[in-house]
Amino acid sequence: MNSRDALFDAIHGRSNPKTPVWFMRQAGRLFPEYRALREDYDFKELCRNEKLNARVTCMPVERLGVDAAIIFSDILLPLESVGAGFELVPGEGPVLDRTVESMNDVRELSAGSPRQDLDYVLEAIEASIDRLPEDVPLIGFAGAPFTLASYLVEGGKSRNHMKTRNFMLNEPEAWDRLMDLLVDLTIPYLEGQVEAGAEILQLFDSWVGQLSPPLYEERVLPHTERIVEAVDGPPLIHFGTKTAGLLPLIEKLDVDVLGIDWRIDVATARNQLSDPPCLQGNLDPGLLLNDFPSVKPYVDRILEQASPAGHVFNLGHGILPETQPEVVEKLVEYVHSQPRGPDEN
Ligand code: CP3
Repeated sequence: MNSRDALFDAIHGRSNPKTPVWFMRQAGRLFPEYRALREDYDFKELCRNEKLNARVTCMPVERLGVDAAIIFSDILLPLESVGAGFELVPGEGPVLDRTVESMNDVRELSAGSPRQDLDYVLEAIEASIDRLPEDVPLIGFAGAPFTLASYLVEGGKSRNHMKTRNFMLNEPEAWDRLMDLLVDLTIPYLEGQVEAGAEILQLFDSWVGQLSPPLYEERVLPHTERIVEAVDGPPLIHFGTKTAGLLPLIEKLDVDVLGIDWRIDVATARNQLSDPPCLQGNLDPGLLLNDFPSVKPYVDRILEQASPAGHVFNLGHGILPETQPEVVEKLVEYVHSQPRGPDEN
C-alpha cells in the first residue's frame, strides 16, 4: 500500500485501511550505522554532506519501513543564520554561543538569510528525495518561534524555562521583536524546503507545554499563527509536549495535523477539540525500551481510540537513543497490519 496515499488520506480524514507511521527523531541516533558515521564526522558535518545526509535521512525508511522520511537536520541550525551558533556538548545537549536577555541583545541579532545560509539543508532534501522510494514523502521541519526563542534565552537546555517565561512577561516589546525575527527567519526557510521537495512540514514547539494558557495565547499563538498563515500549500503538523492544557488554544492555529505527547489519551485530546483535525502520536517513547509484546496493548489502545478518524501513528516525543531498531521494526509492521477505517471495522 502506497505510503504517500496512506499519509495524505489520514491527514485529510479520508478512509484508507492503512495507518501511516513515522517517528520523530527517527533519522540517526538509533542505528549502529549512524553511530559509526558519527565516529568520523560531527553532527554538523553530517548535516552538511548531502550524500551522507541522504543516507541518514533514508535509513529509517530502508530499515524500518516507515511511511515518511524527515530530513536530517536540527531546529537550531537556522539560529546560526541570525548569528547564534551552537555546539553539541556530550551529556549536556546543545549549548549556544550567545544568549538573549534584553532588547539590546535582540537588536544585535541579524535578520538572517535562511535560503543562503541553509542551502545545504535544501540540497540535502533534494538528495534525499532522489534516494527515497517513489511513494515515500519527505517531511521538512522547523522549530516553532517559542521553542527557538527559549534556546536563545536559556542558552541551552532548561528544566523549567524560567528565564524565557520571565522575559516574555517583563520585556514584552523585546519578546515580540525576537519572535518577529524568528518568524521572518522561519517562513522563507520552510518555503525553501517546500521548493526543494518537502511535501509535509512539521513545526516543533517542543517546550511550549511550560506555558500557562493565557501566556501562550497572548505571547506565542499570534506569532506561530503568522507562520501557519504564510505557509499555505503542504500539510502542516504542529507538535509540542505537555500540551494537554493548551490543545483548545493550539487548535486555533488551524493546522492540518496536531501532534500530541503520551501524557494524554487520544480520546481525551480529541474531546477537548471542537473540530479535531488529524491527530499524530502518541506512544510513550520509553515503552520501546521493552520487548514488543509488552508494548502491544498500548499500541492497540492508541489505534482503537484513534480509529476511524484521521491518525498518523508516531511516538509522543522523539525515539530514545537506546531503543533497539528491531523493536521499532516490529511496531511498524504491527501498525501496518491493523486495518483502520469505517469499512474495515
Ligand atoms: O526527527 C529526526 O530524526 C530528524 C532530525 C532532527 C534532529 N533534531 C536531529 C538531531 C529533528 C527533527 C530534531 C529536532 C530538534 N532538535 C528538537 C525538536 C524535537 C524534540 O525532540 O523535541 C529539539 C528540541 C532539538 C534540539 C537538540 N538537537 C537537542 C536537545 C539535541 C541533543 C540531544 C539529543 O536529543 O540527541 C540535538 C542534537 C541532535 N539533533 C541529534 C540529532 C540526531 C544528536 C546528534 C548526535 O549526537 O549524533
